Amino acid sequence: MNPSYFPNSAKINSSNHLEVGGYDLTELAERFGTPLYVIDERTVRDTAKEYKEALNEFYPNSLPIFASKALSLQAIFSILYQEGFGLDVVSAGELFTAQSIKFPGEKIYLHGNNKSMEELEMASDYEGTKVIIDNFNDIEILRKLGKPIDALLRLTPGVECHTHEYIKTGHLDSKFGFDLDQLEDAIEKIKSISNINLIGLHAHIGSQIFEIAPYQDAAKILLGSFVKLKEKYGLEFSELNVGGGFGIHYTEQDDPPSINDVIKKLSETVKSLVSEFKLKEPKLIIEPGRSIVGRAGVTVYTVGASKEVPEGSYYISVDGGMADNPRSITYQAEYEACLANRVQSDNLKKYTLAGRYCESGDILIKDLELPVDVQSGDLIAVFGTGAYNYSMSSNYNRVPKPTMVLLNNGEAEVILRKETLEDILRNDILPTRLANLKEKVH
Ligand SMILES: Cc1ncc(COP(=O)(O)O)c(C=O)c1O
Repeated sequence: MNPSYFPNSAKINSSNHLEVGGYDLTELAERFGTPLYVIDERTVRDTAKEYKEALNEFYPNSLPIFASKALSLQAIFSILYQEGFGLDVVSAGELFTAQSIKFPGEKIYLHGNNKSMEELEMASDYEGTKVIIDNFNDIEILRKLGKPIDALLRLTPGVECHTHEYIKTGHLDSKFGFDLDQLEDAIEKIKSISNINLIGLHAHIGSQIFEIAPYQDAAKILLGSFVKLKEKYGLEFSELNVGGGFGIHYTEQDDPPSINDVIKKLSETVKSLVSEFKLKEPKLIIEPGRSIVGRAGVTVYTVGASKEVPEGSYYISVDGGMADNPRSITYQAEYEACLANRVQSDNLKKYTLAGRYCESGDILIKDLELPVDVQSGDLIAVFGTGAYNYSMSSNYNRVPKPTMVLLNNGEAEVILRKETLEDILRNDILPTRLANLKEKVH
């Protein structure tokens, strides 16, 4: 049995190599070099289908939208469109990526706690695109633009989630959304602006969440507001958006519920509240990001230097790290990994997997068990790197960003070209007065 953090198509082949999408990762590394981002198309499609099938069964009047911040690339948007998904975008860049493949506007929602006038205008001009109003500034910009737009209002429902626990509070200290006691002020403002058509409410309660109850609680709070606003203003909303954040396996210790279970329980709650509150059934929107692409991703690195600290750790350094995967240094995120060119071994020891960047904190994994004889040139595959790795990557230390390949049925297609050293200099401007190094040496 494969570990739960493997991509769906991953297997250990007869040469004891890791294979993904029918492709031996040692051959892939030879062909494209390392570090290399790998995406297993089958995992993306299987997961998207799981959401679609569960929604079709338990709540057909629904739309899953991919939180594109997790992995914003044209190929990924295209796969998700084919699987029946919409898109959540948070910037002109993400919206532009969607527009470049003609992703239909009516399935796009623009989020953000500080949208610019240009971004809101771009959304208003792309027919059908909806906006999630996050604050009074959004309302004011939309009023100034004067263009007709369908919008939802983002609330902070006072449900706060961590992976293993959640709490309900009266007010959440969050930069996102309206507090519940600001809701009526926001509605009064919006009602006075004729070009904004308010169609629903939204909440996003956190990320990498393993419990279903907080979503049920958030839905209850949102639907409670539906009732309040119907009674007070005669508003009848058509959309309920409960956000994303559904957890995945990064390690065997992680314990997320099945997608089917989440959707079933959430749908049952929404349906029963809709009937109890005598509301018209709204369209249910969910915004998964990490759970669609996270486990589909593997990053392949080559081992270089190693160092043994007496009575301390055994370090092995790889040719990537915090710039291609900032999650470890930022959130102390945990990952699993193996040697792609010698997956199984009876003789293991613990290593510290270090990145190549000039920060002591650039450690990808601590206490990683690998064969005792790891050497320079060995290939390390780190699992669960599809979400928020490339999308949060940087050029720290002026290292070009890696290639990303999409693997499917033994085929490898580049979906992100490796940056070159010229790319690193592309926007770097040397004023002519500083161009002659010989001119003056102090
Ligand atoms: C508004 C909103 N929706 C959806 C998501 C997606 O979360 P996840 O990738 O954990 O599913 C996020 C993530 O930050 C978000 O801010």
